[in-house]
Amino acid sequence: MILSSIEQLKETTKFIKSKFALEPKVGIVLGSGLGNLAKEIEIEKEIHYKDIPHFPISTVEGHQGKLVFGIIGGKRVVAMMGRFHYYEGYTPEQVVFPIRLMKFLGVETLLLSNAAGAMNSSFKVGDLMIINDHISLFTVNPLIGKNHDELGVRFPDMSEPYNKSLIAKAKKLAGQLNIPLKEGVYAGVTGPTFETRAEYKLLHIAGGDAVGMSTVQEVIAASHIGLSIFAMSVITDIGIREDENIITHEEVLQAAAEAEPKLTAIFKQLIAEL
Ligand code: HPA
Repeated sequence: MILSSIEQLKETTKFIKSKFALEPKVGIVLGSGLGNLAKEIEIEKEIHYKDIPHFPISTVEGHQGKLVFGIIGGKRVVAMMGRFHYYEGYTPEQVVFPIRLMKFLGVETLLLSNAAGAMNSSFKVGDLMIINDHISLFTVNPLIGKNHDELGVRFPDMSEPYNKSLIAKAKKLAGQLNIPLKEGVYAGVTGPTFETRAEYKLLHIAGGDAVGMSTVQEVIAASHIGLSIFAMSVITDIGIREDENIITHEEVLQAAAEAEPKLTAIFKQLIAEL
């Protein structure tokens, strides 16, 4: 029997609850090379993706493939160690399955991070950028197909997917922690190729400050289902530089790892103050 996505979500929720019944209030999705926040969670339960019914399995280097349940900053959280990308061959619906699951488990606020290339010429490698809006037209919308009213409305408003009060709170915290922040528009693309020079230029003209291969599909599904969202990019490469324009995945992971402690500090404090 083929289960609908709702039936799958219900079945998976039941499975998770049978393993760990306490409700997480905050969901965390950490990007490539940005997984250290999860190490600071007081772990109550870990469940590997491969053991979770209907869960895809993560294949990208730097990802561990498990859900971590526990406490950080006095809040009960669930963190995805490793997210699913469209470029891995998953359907957009599979990419957002864990986000919907989080809502079914009781999550109210979703925090996401990612590694991104910069088009904004004032950005440097290692900068943190609060995502205040996104462009998702260069990838595939995960809500295409039959709409399930249990998840959200057919034509969701997207005027403020990134919660303004969470952005204000993060800025204040970063100031207190002495961490400089940029803010801007994240352009979501499918990958897995990095962009050509002409593509970076186009994305910049289109209004993007940074570009990456994740997040926007998750944010669309999260917004659809009514989660409060905060997301931050770590700038790992400068797409628009005219000279040395070659980018490797290793370089991205290294830059992400170097900037990671700043991001972790902000996320941790933000969770504590939710
Ligand atoms: N482009 C797309 N995705 C990325 C980049 C980039 O330059 N850097 C990190 N992820």
